[in-house]
Amino acid sequence: MAQNKDLTHNRLADEKFHTDFAKGIAYGDYLSLGELLSAQNLRSTAHDEMLFVVIHQCSELWMKLMIHELTAAVSLLQDDQLRPAFKMTARVSQIQDQLTQSWGILATMTPTDYLSFRDTLGAASGFQSFQYRTLEFMMGNKDRKFLALHRDRPEWHDALEAVLNAPSLYDETILLLGRKGFAIDASERDRDWSEPRDANDSVRAAWVEVYRNPEKYWDLYEWAEELIDLEDAFQTWRFRHRTTVERVIGFKRGTGGTTGVGYLKRALEIRFFPELWEARTEL
Ligand code: HEM
Repeated sequence: MAQNKDLTHNRLADEKFHTDFAKGIAYGDYLSLGELLSAQNLRSTAHDEMLFVVIHQCSELWMKLMIHELTAAVSLLQDDQLRPAFKMTARVSQIQDQLTQSWGILATMTPTDYLSFRDTLGAASGFQSFQYRTLEFMMGNKDRKFLALHRDRPEWHDALEAVLNAPSLYDETILLLGRKGFAIDASERDRDWSEPRDANDSVRAAWVEVYRNPEKYWDLYEWAEELIDLEDAFQTWRFRHRTTVERVIGFKRGTGGTTGVGYLKRALEIRFFPELWEARTEL
């Protein structure tokens, strides 16, 4: 009984807490909340524009973290350190799941809601997200023509070009297979990294060997599954984007100028790690 009485008088504000931040940084300053929370520059009075802006900004923040994780994973791969890299790719897959969940929030916006502010977007589209393109390039889906979208922002253009010209996560994986003794064709070990690549027999044969002998190649076997998790998570995000877009704009052209749903449907055919998928048929 006495215990219950204590509970009814339990006020969280009775706790002692800091109110003087002269010596240490406070939450809002540490996170630059002033800048972050005043960056929602709405261009209409439509209620749903806030959702539209916030969901894109949150996605960009998650992309920033994904790039941070994948960059670290690539440099670990270069040092043959697969185990610590697992942690980073596993985190990226979880972030992708989180982004996929966010389509459910966006789908609460009806076509009518979206049309109430769509005209104010002009030619702005996620298509021009330089962080998204960085991720696609890092995963191995290289295409130089996307650089043109960032001609007017040299800092984004140059950063993206550097990623285009560097080996992708999968290129680094193939180099690692070579260092581990698999007979990888020279054309896969030394090539123009800015060019897209096609599936290669020697790489597929290496994965088949790994999957047939998991105990012998446990790290590579685990890494292969990490990559499949990543690709799976990317595909799921792409799929939900495509269905949400169809739900909101039907088959209208995109604000970025493409065929819209037609373009997003074609993106579903992309495979970052083709040999890993093909190996499954061969096993
Ligand atoms: C109502 C909401 C949305 C609509 C109607 C929409 C529509 C589209 C369309 C039609 C495209 C194709 C390019 C174009 O012509 O514009 C596209 C591309 C893209 N969108 Fe969205 N989108 C929406 C929400 C989002 C959100 C929340 C994100 C998160 C960042 C996003 C990220 C992207 C990206 C990264 C691309 C490029 C995909 C690629 O090149 O494969 N979109 N979007």
